[in-house]
Amino acid sequence: MKILVTGGLGYIGSHTVVELLNNDYEVVVIDNLYNSKEEVKDKIKAITNKDFQFVKGDVCDKNVLEKIFIENKIDAVIHFAGYKAVGESVQKPLMYYRNNLDSTLTLLEVMNQYNCKRLVFSSSATVYGKPASLPIKETFPLSTTNPYGTTKLMIEDILRDIYKSDNDWSIAILRYFNPVGAHKSGLIGESPNGIPNNLMPYIVKVADGELECLSVFGDDYDTVDGTGVRDYIHVVDLSLGHIKAIEYILKNKGIDEYNLGTGNGFSVLQLVKAFEKVNGIKVNYKITDRRAGDIDACYADSSKAKEILGWEAQKGIDEMCKDAYNFVIKNK
Ligand code: NAD
Ligand code: UFG
Repeated sequence: MKILVTGGLGYIGSHTVVELLNNDYEVVVIDNLYNSKEEVKDKIKAITNKDFQFVKGDVCDKNVLEKIFIENKIDAVIHFAGYKAVGESVQKPLMYYRNNLDSTLTLLEVMNQYNCKRLVFSSSATVYGKPASLPIKETFPLSTTNPYGTTKLMIEDILRDIYKSDNDWSIAILRYFNPVGAHKSGLIGESPNGIPNNLMPYIVKVADGELECLSVFGDDYDTVDGTGVRDYIHVVDLSLGHIKAIEYILKNKGIDEYNLGTGNGFSVLQLVKAFEKVNGIKVNYKITDRRAGDIDACYADSSKAKEILGWEAQKGIDEMCKDAYNFVIKNK
């Protein structure tokens, strides 16, 4: 079976390519290297001892995609490619709508043209907006608070419309909670440019001395210690969710949404403490104002993924903290 992975040299994509190769899938990756480096290709090969085809190209470019489908019999696609920074999407909405929607529409048109109708799509827990209760189930109402989230919701709607128009499609929409951590080897992981927006990459840079102090955005939320609670999930667990989703869509037609989380919520301070303990290092922090748009708490009910896909997260918070730090130390 041959899988096309868009954005396959990025953070989640690279870990998923490793698991695909480990499970004997053939892989073609297309990535324009907007937020990744070509050297990740060799690192994936070093981890798996297996080869795959890499196409440096843009998913918005129909000609490049058509060439891939002409040269390969693609059985299914995992679509990671897109922009993902919430704050940047508020500043540059057009850039987000253009890239995230255009890439998806072009991909879907070409898939249709070459009769490849199996897709796994990267959505996000952000489509639940501010949930009325917890844990979050897939049936909860959907809403968004920023252009990035709106692109995800719009794409989900497009996919539901496609399936309505043609029941031959087989689509798994995966709603990720908060992916963190890195591959055990320390060869691949998350390396955001500049000052990170997300909590774990920030903690890691403070621990490493690159940044001075973590700002904890608010300690007056309605949570265990007043700091924001999230469902952190190890990126390798998340990647394994894609393998289960691929297995499922290769056998079943239809469209469905799945939460991929652990079901456990950790506060900012709980994550800091866990990180300090497992890595034996101090993380300086100070409490600051809330960050605009943040919600109190967010964690998943992932029982649907367990029941239908046979997937469940295995790795705990300590392993997430350990692997996240190991990646940074190994890549200084
Ligand atoms: P990432 O930025 O590391 O990976 C995305 C990859 O896509 C990058 O390698 C980038 O170069 C590539 N890319 C972007 N636009 C492209 C285009 N037009 N053509 C070709 N390649 C393109 O991001 P990630 O964290 O691995 O996220 C993967 C997907 O999961 C994204 O769609 C993201 O929105 C979604 N997601 C991520 C998170 C998270 O916290 N990381 C949470 C929920 C959902
Ligand atoms: N936080 C801090 N200080 C920081 C960064 C974050 O205190 O420097 C806090 C936030 O206030 C929040 C928690 O840490 O309470 C997690 O924040 P992240 O920015 O790491 O993650 P979010 O839950 O805000 O958002 C992430 C992705 C979104 C995605 C969402 C749901 O950035 O793209 O998870 O999957 F939509």
